[in-house]
Amino acid sequence: MDYKQYIAQKLKIEGVSEDEIAAAIALPPNSEMGDYALPCFKFSKILRKSPVIIAEELKAGFMTDDIISEVSAVNGYLNFKINKSGLADSVLNKILNDGEKYGSSDMGAGKTICIDYSSVNIAKPFHIGHLSTTVIGGALYKIYKFLGYNVVGINHLGDYGTQFGKLICAYKHWGNKEDVQKGGIHAINDLYVRFNNEADEQMESEAREYFRLIESGDREANELFEWFKELTLEYVKKIYEKLNITFDSYAGERFYTDKMQPIIDELNNKGLLKESNGAKIVDLEPYGMSPCLILRSDGASLYATRDLAAAVYRKNTYDFYKCLYVVAYQQNLHFKQVFKVLELMGKEWAKDLVHVAYGMVSLEDGAMSTRKGKVVWLEDVINKCVDKAYTIINEKNPDLDNKEETANLVGLGAVIFGALYNNKIKDIVFSYDKVLSFEGETSVYVQYTCARANSVLSKCNAAFTVPGGYKPNKEESEVIKALGSFPETVKDAAEKYEPSYIARYAVDLAQKYNKFYIDCKILTAEGDARDFRLSLTKATLLTLKNALTLLGIGVPEKM
Ligand code: ARG
Repeated sequence: MDYKQYIAQKLKIEGVSEDEIAAAIALPPNSEMGDYALPCFKFSKILRKSPVIIAEELKAGFMTDDIISEVSAVNGYLNFKINKSGLADSVLNKILNDGEKYGSSDMGAGKTICIDYSSVNIAKPFHIGHLSTTVIGGALYKIYKFLGYNVVGINHLGDYGTQFGKLICAYKHWGNKEDVQKGGIHAINDLYVRFNNEADEQMESEAREYFRLIESGDREANELFEWFKELTLEYVKKIYEKLNITFDSYAGERFYTDKMQPIIDELNNKGLLKESNGAKIVDLEPYGMSPCLILRSDGASLYATRDLAAAVYRKNTYDFYKCLYVVAYQQNLHFKQVFKVLELMGKEWAKDLVHVAYGMVSLEDGAMSTRKGKVVWLEDVINKCVDKAYTIINEKNPDLDNKEETANLVGLGAVIFGALYNNKIKDIVFSYDKVLSFEGETSVYVQYTCARANSVLSKCNAAFTVPGGYKPNKEESEVIKALGSFPETVKDAAEKYEPSYIARYAVDLAQKYNKFYIDCKILTAEGDARDFRLSLTKATLLTLKNALTLLGIGVPEKM
């Protein structure tokens, strides 16, 4: 149940919508005050009254019920208390009933969200720098689906540019079919790196010619290009499968080759296209930005030109409600420019484009990723995490069945969770030991809690009926409250484009459950207490699983 929405719907404030009220409701710093609080100063201006008076008036008009049992007005805050035994009944019954659907909603029905994420570059390494966009985008994809939106996952492939000319040139000089077929993306990357290290003027000029040949539709050049593309996609798709990532479209930059001219014409007709040193630009100086480059002086299009075409294409094709771009903050200016140009073109939907920016990931031993070839491949990070997970599990529980499968779930979960746990804009340093810790704020800890709950449940044969009117103790109440706030956490995560909310939620719920587990008897309790605690355990397991599933993380039965 979404309590904020429930409370908001019972409060009527003139000139303020229900959603705005719900958004203003917060958790009070001290749970003695109440379970939720509405700071009334937010409405002082619109109501022309002091917060104290607003709180008093709202309190007078608020009818308590079996969900909200108490309301008080203190210093301009309106505090609400939830009926604990009624809450426990309703939360547990709801979770046990809804199961895998608990936390889902149909709020997105009829709306389409496009998510541009992962967006790999063909023939270039899929490295640790791509981890965040892949897992943040992948989680948002699942979260929005869970909320009933129609979601279109788009991998805006980097498959356009002069590097393909270089690659073909390098292949012609140094490569051969067997090696590339066998070595796949690594062989291609080696060729590219070798080109950057060794190519002379002669080869540079050949490379430009090969690029021109791709552009002009030359058969051989295009076959080679398509082959490199296929090998790259084959490779990344295996990683996507491991990370539970899916796409509905792989329309990359090349796809827009024939879709840019109409945009350029439109810019021209609207008087937005300016000449500058032979290049064509849109002047953005009045908006405090450098110009958006549309065509280079040699007539070649740019990254931004293709993004303009892509945005228009997506609007026409999907009629999106929102289009998200999960791309590193290094591209802040690029997206600001592109969105501004679309706005200047009169596309009222430009306001629905969102750059979901995130910070950098580096490893503890320093940064990586140079054109000269020193990169950390994401695949290696994944493999190392899975190997380390195996070692840890083997030490802790040598007799466990399916050790390999468990290590897979634990290792992959750690990679994903490690990249998701922090507020997305923060730069993070990825540490194998940290993400694989059983005690820290990790997926391993959450998975271990699930295994613990599973083990309790496997030792009993309960029907999981929630005893009516049971008065939960403090530890139980804390778990119930956390359980009850899952739906609003999912919504908040979607609204703020922050899967980290769900990651943090999972750790918080696991901590509360573990406190309960340590302080209260479960299997050896009696009567209503036993029934209640078993239901609580089952509901916690279901909810933790739902949370991890939204992040793309699986849950082993035992650990
Ligand atoms: N391939 C680009 C990169 O690696 C990211 C593309 C993001 N999407 C977009 N529509 N520009 O930097």
